[in-house]
Amino acid sequence: MSAITRDAASVITIEQAGQHDAQQVTLRGWLYNVRESGKLLFPIFRDGTGIIQGVCSQKEHPQAFEALRGLTQESSVIVTGIIRSEKRAPGGYEIGVTKVEIVQKVPESDPYPIQLKEHGVDFLLDRRHLWIRSPRQAAILRIRAEAIRAAREYMDGQGYTLTDAPVFTPAACEGTTTLFEVNYIDDQKAYLTQSGQLYVEATAMALGKVYTFGPTFRAEKSKTRRHLTEFWMLEPEAAYADLSDMMALGEGLVSHMVQSALKNRQRELETLKRDTAKLANVRPPFPRISYEEAIRILNEHGNSAKMGDDFGGDEETLLSSEYDRPVMVHRYPAAIKAFYMQPDPQRPDLALGFDMLAPEGYGEIIGGGQRVHDYDLLVKRLRENKLPEEAFQWYLDLRRYGSVPHAGFGLGLERTVAWICGTEHIREVIPFPRTIYRVYP
Ligand code: 4AD
Ligand code: MG
Repeated sequence: MSAITRDAASVITIEQAGQHDAQQVTLRGWLYNVRESGKLLFPIFRDGTGIIQGVCSQKEHPQAFEALRGLTQESSVIVTGIIRSEKRAPGGYEIGVTKVEIVQKVPESDPYPIQLKEHGVDFLLDRRHLWIRSPRQAAILRIRAEAIRAAREYMDGQGYTLTDAPVFTPAACEGTTTLFEVNYIDDQKAYLTQSGQLYVEATAMALGKVYTFGPTFRAEKSKTRRHLTEFWMLEPEAAYADLSDMMALGEGLVSHMVQSALKNRQRELETLKRDTAKLANVRPPFPRISYEEAIRILNEHGNSAKMGDDFGGDEETLLSSEYDRPVMVHRYPAAIKAFYMQPDPQRPDLALGFDMLAPEGYGEIIGGGQRVHDYDLLVKRLRENKLPEEAFQWYLDLRRYGSVPHAGFGLGLERTVAWICGTEHIREVIPFPRTIYRVYP
């Protein structure tokens, strides 16, 4: 293999092509496709930042022509040529190829398995390590990265300090039915974290306003388009904060993520053919409705949900279709919510919690609210939920020593990004999805 560096001045990415009109440049990437038309070749190159069409003439550049003719898909190539504005080309520019260096040729006997045609989703998921090269998948991963960048920018800007939560934990946070048990050193039992919440409650008492952002794990037996077994969650927590503070933070955070994607990832959203008009309105304030109002709205639309029911996908989709931006449903019955939720002093049967439901059927993207801060009530809740008190002694310490009202939430990154991208299933928005039957590749 030859050297892969070139005169730095002329090496550009495809994304930068527009700034080099009529100039000679070098691109380093892969052959996406090549079409032959008599003495002309029309290769398409990709480099991770975009795709560009090329033209190569046999008469003018016989060596480049021979290198490209019949070249196999995904062979790695370094290409030199002149950038030209071309309205009909995808991206608006093409490259007149003058020189081609093949870095690795994909053997004809073992061609790249993902062809430029429709493939079944299992076929693609088995080849996820290659599938991510397709323009659509690469665009999704760029939007994901932008969503993460924007989310952290927003949280930092609001004065929240990042404090990472552990992945190995001694106890459940979100119910014992979805715990992944790990055989820890010397046969100690540990679990993969379901949520960093309990730990950010501790760091909030140390630093005031904090968040954690990392992978979380749930042995979800559900095979829906909204469930992964490993997903990323951003979890803010603040001392001396209440439910309404968290709803305001949630709408600000989600708006900033959406608006940043619209501003900075326009090309990628175009690649996905996302109807961005549906995202443009995502700005505060988001509607806030109580659980009881939600039940009323559902009933008016012929859904038979009744007080005390938890909402499933159908209810969430129906509710969110009433609004052009996410809706926040607050004060669910305490009985259907987690042990740590603070009861509403006016209505102790209701929890001071909220869910944020994304439009277009993407469902719950945020869950959170105020935490029980009273020691005795928390002990009672642990017992009612049959949770092991010893494992929660450290958590109870937060109520023993300077307990204060506090609140937070968890934003599911993949559900949020799936909605921004408009993808059918959330497994497309994480580089290597883990689902009920899949831990490969
Ligand atoms: O509503 P959840 O279960 O809330 C918590 O875990 C709280 N402890 C968070 C907190 O208050 N700090 O999960 C939060 C969000 C959901 O709204 C959803 O977006 C996402 O995490 N989520 C999942 N995403 C993908 N696959 C799954 N299996 C998910 N389960 C939850
Ligand atoms: Mg929830």
